[in-house]
Amino acid sequence: MAARFFKKLVAAKPLGTRLYSGDVKKCTLIPGDGIGPEISAAVQQIFAAANVPIEWETVDVTPVRGPDGKFGIPQAAIDSVNRNKIGLKGPLMTPVGKGHRSLNLALRKEFNLYANVRPCRSLEGYKTLYDDVDVVTIRENTEGEYSGIEHEIVDGVVQSIKLITEDASMRVAEFAFQYAIENNRKKVTAVHKANIMRMSDGLFLRCCREMAKKYPDVKFEEKYLDTVCLNMVQDPSLYDVLVMPNLYGDILSDMCAGLVGGLGLTPSGNIGLNGALFESVHGTAPDIAGQDKANPTALLLSAVMMLKYMQLAPYANVIEKACFETIKEAKYLTGDLGGKAKCSEFTNEICDKISKSS
Ligand code: IPM
Ligand code: MG
Repeated sequence: MAARFFKKLVAAKPLGTRLYSGDVKKCTLIPGDGIGPEISAAVQQIFAAANVPIEWETVDVTPVRGPDGKFGIPQAAIDSVNRNKIGLKGPLMTPVGKGHRSLNLALRKEFNLYANVRPCRSLEGYKTLYDDVDVVTIRENTEGEYSGIEHEIVDGVVQSIKLITEDASMRVAEFAFQYAIENNRKKVTAVHKANIMRMSDGLFLRCCREMAKKYPDVKFEEKYLDTVCLNMVQDPSLYDVLVMPNLYGDILSDMCAGLVGGLGLTPSGNIGLNGALFESVHGTAPDIAGQDKANPTALLLSAVMMLKYMQLAPYANVIEKACFETIKEAKYLTGDLGGKAKCSEFTNEICDKISKSS
């Protein structure tokens, strides 16, 4: 059994990781809006303290008007991500119901980052209602309810198209199983409403079933989205890796984040064949922007995820440990975690721990 597993592991296409050589690697940094710049600076300070062999290339993604009159991502930012193939991104403001399309989504689409990975794990020392959450949501990131195809048929009647394709469903299903293998996870649950959306979710589900056959060492199950929500808040230990269409992943990943302390603590990675962008999923918090009050943990843990993806796990582990210890000690917690510390005090404490550990 072990030999079979090992053989499979070696043969497996490394979808979730990329190899980088020992040199300093350039990495695009999109600080973002609101609290984005200060939490990005915190991450940069911590990376410097840990001597991470990364050089940041900071780019601005304030939308610019293109030749077609539409607002989009500036070319310099696109070029930077295409060159470096790896990036870290703070929160970007999304206009609600008007103005330009969400840049957060535009970036995922532009680089075809088809799988969104959000690990949610209970943090030791930060008490929530649950102690045993350890789930990973894998969300299809390019289509589904987020296709952006909407139109008004007649006055007062609007249609929104949920686009599901075999290609996108297959590749995200493959990603989920591959992720399970590479991260020693035991089970993949396909989350769907194929009882209602029989064609679209039906196709998604069939693709997951198809892929499951290629991964006999990973347990596979199918669950309705509403059932997963119910079960998750009653006993999160029932789930391991979850794979689902775009909107379900958006909602379920927030719910899982809520179980472990909120979006301020949970990392996220958008992965494609040609690059990856790691980001904090919380908003821009304009009410506290520029006041040194923000919690940089979500962006920091996203950056840690990025380092693991770049095969720089030793650096990732040192930073993650210092961050978790600082939260556990609870001496320098920011306001969102019930403390009084400033972002800079929390950051300095992590840096101190890193210096002492080396
Ligand atoms: C997320 C966010 C985004 C989304 C917003 C900011 C556009 O909620 O990454 O989960 O809806 O995908
Ligand atoms: Mg969301």
